[in-house]
Amino acid sequence: MSDDGGATAGSGPTAGTGGIDRYTEPDGDPDTLANLGPLAPLAGIWEGTGGADVHPVAGGPEGDAYVERYELQPIDRQTNGPQLLYGLRYHRHIVKPGEVETFHDQVGYWLWEPATATVTFTLAIPRAQVLLAHGTAAADAREFEVRAEVGDGSYGILSGPFLEANFRTVSCRVRVTIGADDTWSYAEETMLVIPDRDEPFAHTDANTLTRVAPPTPNPLAAAASANGSLGIGDLRAETRWRP
Ligand code: HEM
Repeated sequence: MSDDGGATAGSGPTAGTGGIDRYTEPDGDPDTLANLGPLAPLAGIWEGTGGADVHPVAGGPEGDAYVERYELQPIDRQTNGPQLLYGLRYHRHIVKPGEVETFHDQVGYWLWEPATATVTFTLAIPRAQVLLAHGTAAADAREFEVRAEVGDGSYGILSGPFLEANFRTVSCRVRVTIGADDTWSYAEETMLVIPDRDEPFAHTDANTLTRVAPPTPNPLAAAASANGSLGIGDLRAETRWRP
């Protein structure tokens, strides 16, 4: 019996999928930097000294300036059966101006699915918290947004027991704007439910980042370039990662 209420009968690769073959993978393109849609301008290494954070402290909000390094590197295209994703693996590291101690640390992926024009964003922070957000955008969009809501089935937010009880993250929104002169900006709003407050707390962060280094081509692209199958010059930085 199929698991889609009988839409696809019998067994085999399409059983229960309404006719989609869940096992057959598309080839995709080895050159991730050429297939990142709206994420293409983000590839590379960035720094920003004008970060602005608002976070909760006892009795109210507190604001801090911060300095950020944001590294986004292309990964080989990924397939989930017929689903094809191109993406960037990222690491953000944040300190207060003039300090060494980590103020915020974050890793994850920005993913682009051309077939559905979907941007997927994952986040893990060392407060015992993970998140999966999404949004849609045109392939050439200069501005886009991803959102996650707690308890939202496919997408969502998971917090460890301390955070869940004391600083429950109920939603998160990240808006990205590609700027001129090799810059980009983001504005984030993370809504926290804190038991001693009447209203959800808006934990916000914003920064503008300037490129300090180009991306490193993903492994398949580097190999294809080395054996000549992408053509001379295909991976030259100025034609691939510039917005
Ligand atoms: C630039 C980005 C961010 C910075 C600089 C930052 C910084 C901070 C700071 C300073 C606190 C106060 C608590 C403490 O001092 O330990 C805090 C609390 C918190 N942040 Fe962030 N944060 C950022 C982004 C995020 C994001 C994206 C999330 C989740 C989606 C998040 C989740 C939380 C939570 C749940 C708390 C409450 C925990 C507590 O106060 O003990 N933060 N953040």
